[in-house]
Amino acid sequence: MLGQALRVKILPDTRFVKIAYAVEKDAEGLLYMDANQSLTGKPFVFSQSESLFARSWLLLQDAPQVRFTFSAKVKLPKGDSSLVLMSAPDNPKQVNPSGIYEFHQKNPLPSYLMSLAVGPLQYTNLGKRTGFYAEKPLISKAKQDLAPVEKMLEASEKCFGEYPWERYDVLVLPERFPFGGMENPCITYASGTIITGDSSLVNVVIHEICHSWFGNLVTHSNWADIALTEGFTTWGELTVNRMLNGDELGDMLWINEIAALKEELDGYTPEQTKLYREMKNPEGLFDNIPYTKGALFLEALKNQIGLERTLAFLNKYLKKFAWKDASVEGFLPFLKEEIGPAAYTTLKADAWFYEPGLPSNSPSFESPAFQAIGRSAKDWKNVKELSTATWKTPHWLHFLNSVYEQGVSVEQLKQLEATHHLTQKNSEIKLRFYRIAVKYGFEEVFPAMEAFLMKVGRKKLIVPIYKELCGVNKAEYAEKLIKKANYHPITQVAIDTDVTCVKK
Ligand code: BES
Ligand code: ZN
Repeated sequence: MLGQALRVKILPDTRFVKIAYAVEKDAEGLLYMDANQSLTGKPFVFSQSESLFARSWLLLQDAPQVRFTFSAKVKLPKGDSSLVLMSAPDNPKQVNPSGIYEFHQKNPLPSYLMSLAVGPLQYTNLGKRTGFYAEKPLISKAKQDLAPVEKMLEASEKCFGEYPWERYDVLVLPERFPFGGMENPCITYASGTIITGDSSLVNVVIHEICHSWFGNLVTHSNWADIALTEGFTTWGELTVNRMLNGDELGDMLWINEIAALKEELDGYTPEQTKLYREMKNPEGLFDNIPYTKGALFLEALKNQIGLERTLAFLNKYLKKFAWKDASVEGFLPFLKEEIGPAAYTTLKADAWFYEPGLPSNSPSFESPAFQAIGRSAKDWKNVKELSTATWKTPHWLHFLNSVYEQGVSVEQLKQLEATHHLTQKNSEIKLRFYRIAVKYGFEEVFPAMEAFLMKVGRKKLIVPIYKELCGVNKAEYAEKLIKKANYHPITQVAIDTDVTCVKK
């Protein structure tokens, strides 16, 4: 996985070096999908470089501190009418009959943000510098969900300054994509699972937009510094979301994030809960610690000095480190200088990054609606007792999280499905419902769950279900499904690492 050095002799009169190479068919950074795996029955290939997979399909120095600009020319086989997209502002809006596509990225980017996608795609315009690419059957739903993208970008600019990457487009990928979203510059990759037609999961797009500043403009120096990228981005996501959708929803989203973090903290050793963590393989770093603990750190700063000053501070940080990388080691002295030593001590900034658990100034949130839901999750006997009429996705997630903890009977689950059809709701709701179904033995929905597991490749949505199957001694069943699904190599690695009951 770590690769090896390629040594090239440079002579006194060497002006440039040309290297010809081919990529192995099983490169982890590329997923080739055959005709029956895409919606339109045409082949599709796309890359995923973060964290260490750029090296599997490109010859480069694969470390986040190394930046480069690029020009690329991609030539398709004769007669192939796919579109080609890269991490560049000049992506094509229509098929070029010559089959030749050229790209120019003038802003320097780190290797993990390099991307290439070739597929049966069509472009739809959204705003003056925004649009999306999708396979035809998804276009009308995606149009509804992604309609607010230009507005999201504008709200993010209000927080973090002018958008640095010229264009912002979204590529809607098949549901087998291992992530919900990936912040490739100029062209965010989004899993088909976030396209629901009711905008219930588009917060993922706000998250990826915020990476345009945190991660893409200022990059973590080492993977151990990933909280500066994922934590600050998550704070940005929650802050922009609050601006666009109000405080009530804003608080709910935080509560759900914190619940997931606490669940994780409970199962971890103290060492594993530190924000600054070194790991041999960075893939293991992307749990709730950098995301939610990292976001809580900035929220603690906000509670202390106010939103306006926090944004002013972040703008200064972004200016200082623009087009460069930043480490926790470099960030903390900068913070101290900006807010002053007394405020720095009150904030417990060092403890946030270098000590386990959550410091005593960790923010908490309240939602009366969630409190009521928590109570009914405990008390309900019959589905009629639940007043679900006004529930949106965050309410359902909160309810299902509570039910998972509290316990539930098969009869109750039967009623729940018969009345609310949770197996037909969005993928975040499905995941939580299936986890409950496995834990509490509601096997009637297993066929629907199997269909979900065969179609979806997003790690966050399927690994927890397999883990739950391990927990109820269904290792053989899990193993059979995993074999049949034939996941993206990145998803498969996550399964091999986290789903401990199945044979590798
Ligand atoms: N950069 C990540 C995706 C990623 C994580 C790639 C780890 C490689 C290794 C992206 O920005 C992300 O965090 N995606 C989340 C969605 C977000 C709303 C939390 C995801 O895919 O679940
Ligand atoms: Zn992210």
